[in-house]
Amino acid sequence: MANNSDAILDKFKEIQEEKSDIKAGRKLKVGIIGTGWIADAHMRSYKNMPDAEIVAGADLIDGKAAAFFKKHEVENVRLYPSHKELLDNEELDAVSVCTYNATHAECTIYALQKGVNVLLEKPMCVTLDEAVEIVKAEKKSGKILSIGFQPRFDPNMQMIKKIVQNGELGEVYYIQTGGGRRRGIPTPFGTSFIEKKTAGIGALGDIGCYSLDMVLNAVGYPKPLTVTGFKSDFFGKSKKYSNKPEYADIFGVDDFAAAFVRLEGGIILDFRIAWAMHMDTPGDTLIFGKHAGLRIPSTDCWNGSVGGPMKIYHDVAGSQVETVIPIIPNKGPGLFDRKIRSFLDAVRTGGPSPVPSSQIIYNQAIIDGISRSAELGREVEIVIPAI
Ligand SMILES: NC(=O)c1ccc[n+]([C@@H]2O[C@H](COP(=O)([O-])OP(=O)(O)OC[C@H]3O[C@@H](n4cnc5c(N)ncnc54)[C@H](O)[C@@H]3O)[C@@H](O)[C@H]2O)c1
Repeated sequence: MANNSDAILDKFKEIQEEKSDIKAGRKLKVGIIGTGWIADAHMRSYKNMPDAEIVAGADLIDGKAAAFFKKHEVENVRLYPSHKELLDNEELDAVSVCTYNATHAECTIYALQKGVNVLLEKPMCVTLDEAVEIVKAEKKSGKILSIGFQPRFDPNMQMIKKIVQNGELGEVYYIQTGGGRRRGIPTPFGTSFIEKKTAGIGALGDIGCYSLDMVLNAVGYPKPLTVTGFKSDFFGKSKKYSNKPEYADIFGVDDFAAAFVRLEGGIILDFRIAWAMHMDTPGDTLIFGKHAGLRIPSTDCWNGSVGGPMKIYHDVAGSQVETVIPIIPNKGPGLFDRKIRSFLDAVRTGGPSPVPSSQIIYNQAIIDGISRSAELGREVEIVIPAI
């Protein structure tokens, strides 16, 4: 039995109608650190922002930054061989850190130490220790740090959060989350996602961070307490299954991870994530509450997107009913534009950060805990030092 869900949808209308109030004034001077694949999306969005200009760029690979800005037809950009020279020589309002995971921490910490606001790509970094150092640098600097979780700006993600926060499910006690692809180890432009020295972590960090954010953000980011984790690399290491057999020998990260996490407040989080598997999906996202349950169907190619329609399972006057929550089409600016806009607005107004490190450090702590537990072969405690 399905209910008419218009009344529920109406509650979320205001989410789509939110608008940034862009004040006139001088343009914000922005630098791009790392001019690879995702920097393209940053560049396209910055071009849509009337109050920002890209004045500098850096990449470790000789000639890469020059080719990048030429492709985007952006002129008069000063180019540097690494984040360090860029930050030493420029007076910037903000940087986008678009480097591979292994250099997220050093670039972000250096930028914050130089008094520059940072939009850092996801995952936050590789280890919890790095995340702690990033947050310390942020606190000391008083600058804005936002982490690049653009699915947060999807009205459907915001709806998930509203459903939970409005109390539609009652007290949440169990969450199943994750996602994956039958074959989808990301090597479109080289090996930076699969080599240990550049990526540090595989599917666990790359797409795992999104599924963790989807549910943790919805339930208010409770503190993680313990974790039992597992990770594997069967597909990445196999010449038979790898989409690029020549990469099997250098594959140095996980392509699958699973975990059982205890969160503060008595919530259990059951998680699995895959870049590759002999299965179409590792399951839908399920949030069990004492009054109702929410099912968020998985998508074919998980990248932090919401499959639909979502359903709330609950009892009405003694009958077990299902309320269908249709997918809301994303009207207006794309998610990347919203991510960049929200960051620039926070820079202009002094905050708060749209995707704060105080939340994402818990996300990183779970990723770190899964890695440690998998390596030790037992449950581990998650200890986040006071910062
Ligand atoms: N938000 C999203 O939708 C999304 C999508 C894809 C990738 N990402 C994230 O973006 C990051 C980058 O991914 P990518 O696919 O663009 O990687 P990439 O390998 O294509 O590009 C990264 C670039 O950073 C450069 N670099 C590394 N350290 C540097 C330093 N210290 N100074 C200057 N340049 C440096 C590298 O030389 C490289 O060119 C990853 O962390 C990834 O998880 C996010």
